[in-house]
Amino acid sequence: MCREAMTDFMDFLKESPSVFHAVQALASRLEEAGFVRLYETMPSWDLVPGRQYFVTRNDSSVISFRLPEKKPEILRILAGHSDSPCFKIKPDPEIGAAGCVKLNIEPYGGMLKNTWYDRPLSVAGRVLIEENGRIVQKLVYPDRDLLIIPSLAIHMDREANEKAMTNVQTDMQPLFALGEKGDRFMETIAEEAGIGAAETADAPGKPSDRILGMDLFLVNRQEPYIWGPEGEFISAAKLDDLMCVYGTFSGFMASQASENVLSMHCVFDNEEVGSRSKQGAESTFLSDCLVRIRESLGMTFSEMHAAAQRGMMISADNAHAVHPNHTDKADPVNRPQMNGGIVLKYHAGQLYTTDGVSAAFVKKLCMDNDIPVQTFVNRSDMRGGSTLGSIANTQLSMNTADIGLAQLAMHSSFETAGAKDLEYLMRFAQKFCS
Ligand code: CO
Repeated sequence: MCREAMTDFMDFLKESPSVFHAVQALASRLEEAGFVRLYETMPSWDLVPGRQYFVTRNDSSVISFRLPEKKPEILRILAGHSDSPCFKIKPDPEIGAAGCVKLNIEPYGGMLKNTWYDRPLSVAGRVLIEENGRIVQKLVYPDRDLLIIPSLAIHMDREANEKAMTNVQTDMQPLFALGEKGDRFMETIAEEAGIGAAETADAPGKPSDRILGMDLFLVNRQEPYIWGPEGEFISAAKLDDLMCVYGTFSGFMASQASENVLSMHCVFDNEEVGSRSKQGAESTFLSDCLVRIRESLGMTFSEMHAAAQRGMMISADNAHAVHPNHTDKADPVNRPQMNGGIVLKYHAGQLYTTDGVSAAFVKKLCMDNDIPVQTFVNRSDMRGGSTLGSIANTQLSMNTADIGLAQLAMHSSFETAGAKDLEYLMRFAQKFCS
């Protein structure tokens, strides 16, 4: 594939240690490409046909869209998620134990916990501080090795290879420092965020005292890399779902404004914890956005409703490749492979939205553009996963297909996928929006 795109994807991954950083990375690409930033706090949006815009919610979800020259008659929506399973730092995080300082954490989403042991970690996210009487948000990411979750030695746990030690409260608190419990961790965060001491002389406080709120998450520090004899693999943290986010986003950005198609790209937070938040796929973010677009363009409810019903949504979230060590875990017939192209995901119980109609749409688009397509269905005796497509449909009901790219080790802190598949998704997304 185009080396430039792969390099930019790797840069995007490195710029995205948290959901807030990922949305910031997308926002800066949007602004660079001339998209106008809107705010939900604006009383009105004055939109101009043919122009392009974006809006964020909670700084962890972002919707970008390109208006057609005429009134929108067809909606084309691409959606993915910004979050990945990880651990969240609890308030007042330091705990003293055995002459060491460790941090109190809780799980975010369903991860393979043992993949977080014995590797360099840092934290990333946001802190909120008071500045001149206002509450201000600052993103923070100490770009250095800061923490580790040490294993228990094999000599003290002879069954370690038979059963994993994964109690987050007792086994997995990351080690931060030697010495007494205090506030060194929060001081480190304050320093990294560039927070100085409070100005008022009568209330001398430490910089960390100014942190009023925070959303900080553990980060696997290992950098993404391409490998294999032909460079066929990519391994990185958060491939689920930043690979689909990047692939659909790049395709969307490369597409042109059309006469009558309103194309949108949505990145939702909180998919890994069920999408139920003000900025998740079950929120009103997308439908609110559509209301404001139609108000600004002078469209009736019925006109926008008709555009949605003539349209299509693509929910893009990575899929399971058949694992070479566990070939029996896959369906006997529908067996996605890395670099095998777009994966159409089916689930009779509707955890995936794909049905005959939306499958036909995706397959035709792929066939017309020489994009390989493959299918995923769970083994019938396995529950499998779910994603945001069917959840988004409860807020905006329209024809939708669930797709993804085949990967291994889903929800590990370091995942593996096919490097070529990214290009297929970029092309698919570009054609979809055109
Ligand atoms: Co996912």
